[in-house]
Amino acid sequence: MSTTVIILAAGKGTRMRSNLPKVLQPLAGRPLLGHVINTAKKLQADHIITIYGHGGALVQNAFAHEQVQWVEQAEQLGTGHAVKVTLPVLPREGVSLILSGDVPCITEQTLQKLLDVSRETQIGLVTLTLADATGYGRIVRENGKIQAIVEHKDASEAQRQIQEINTGIYCVSNAKLHEWLPKLSNNNAQGEYYLTDIVAMAIADGLEVASVEPQLAFEVEGVNDRVQLAALEREFQNFQAKQLMQQGVHLIDPTRFDLRGNLTAGKDVRIDINVIIEGDCELGDGVEIGAGCILKNTKIAAGTKVQPYSVFDQAVVGEAAQIGPFSRLRPGAVLANEVHIGNFVEVKNSQIGLGSKANHFTYLGDAEVGAGSNIGAGTITCNYDGANKFKTIIGDQVFIGSNSSLVAPVTIANGATVGAGSTITRDVAEQCLAVERSKQFTKENYQRPQKLKK
Ligand code: UD1
Ligand code: CA
Repeated sequence: MSTTVIILAAGKGTRMRSNLPKVLQPLAGRPLLGHVINTAKKLQADHIITIYGHGGALVQNAFAHEQVQWVEQAEQLGTGHAVKVTLPVLPREGVSLILSGDVPCITEQTLQKLLDVSRETQIGLVTLTLADATGYGRIVRENGKIQAIVEHKDASEAQRQIQEINTGIYCVSNAKLHEWLPKLSNNNAQGEYYLTDIVAMAIADGLEVASVEPQLAFEVEGVNDRVQLAALEREFQNFQAKQLMQQGVHLIDPTRFDLRGNLTAGKDVRIDINVIIEGDCELGDGVEIGAGCILKNTKIAAGTKVQPYSVFDQAVVGEAAQIGPFSRLRPGAVLANEVHIGNFVEVKNSQIGLGSKANHFTYLGDAEVGAGSNIGAGTITCNYDGANKFKTIIGDQVFIGSNSSLVAPVTIANGATVGAGSTITRDVAEQCLAVERSKQFTKENYQRPQKLKK
């Protein structure tokens, strides 16, 4: 049976007070709508149809790489009208999961349960029981069976006492959507075409309406303003942190951990407080990440220790390396096993070989460093002449003295030594010493200038 996912995303989101359409606001680094599309993909939906209205072009451009069908709802006449505008492109067979672009945390597990219970009935809902149900559509049951959804504004005093609410997530047979949606009316308190009215239509057709509850309440929480967005962000982060801990990651304080993407972690990975992980990151067994580090699209192999406040972006680090504190690894930094990168060392688009060290105040850009080399404090690869970038090649067992400038393109061959303070503009051959500095001048018994007497 084919599955279509219909995502309602035409609302304005006025309460966000933002120039960015609501469904593009980020939760855990990904637009709200992106979470829903991702979940639809995990369910292997055959079609994903998104209903857009406000900020249409912006929203479509943000998902240009996704296989999504876009349907415009020019005027927001209600949730029922929104789904109705998809009918020209909605398949006639199979079922649709109807989701909201601003309810980002719904899980594939809950949706799979919904699909399962709705298979026989042709219609099913995700409902939730709340202590305070104010504002929501209420689930009206008789003898335990769902009869209708009544919107808060249309509900009687007695109906407003009902605590079971409609979360706005449905599974409906496409044939039934084609049959029911053209029959919706807007004769209600809000003058809108309510999608919720299809429940009463199903009952009139003699169908039963199935329902499931989400495993966790935050799955069905919507975002209308920035306060709700921040609250949901924390709940989502706690949920992710719990999953990581259950997989064996040692988070020193899960309330001070942020994952904005995906983390694959080995055994006994230990992450100190205030670490942010973005994009796709991988940490091998026993990796330790110190406080305040930021990792983006980075891979760190087993046994490597990262000291506090180090920043990684598209870096690859080998095993048993030592990084930080205050190191910066930029795109294309590829470090072999046992490399040491220390404080205020920046590495960009450079390969550093086995066991090589750059421990203090250094810039390595567009460089290739062999194994067992030592890059002294304050070494700079001068890779840029203001117009073009050039490479610095440093061999194995090279010693670069402190405060040296290596003006690329330049090669320092295996076993070579560069004296401290040198500006190296020509290649240095194997095993040679290159020193480039003026001779030291010494004056004996030197008298410093005295203060003038007034
Ligand atoms: C809806 C449900 C209510 C449920 C609640 C859960 C109806 C009539 N009511 O109410 O039973 O308890 O959600 O949050 O469906 N949208 C469009 N086009 C429109 C109108 C809405 O795309 O013309 C989208 C919105 O952007 C939003 C979603 O549909 O993503 C829900 O709309 P909203 O106005 O928030 O519905 P509620 O009145 O909260
Ligand atoms: Ca709402």
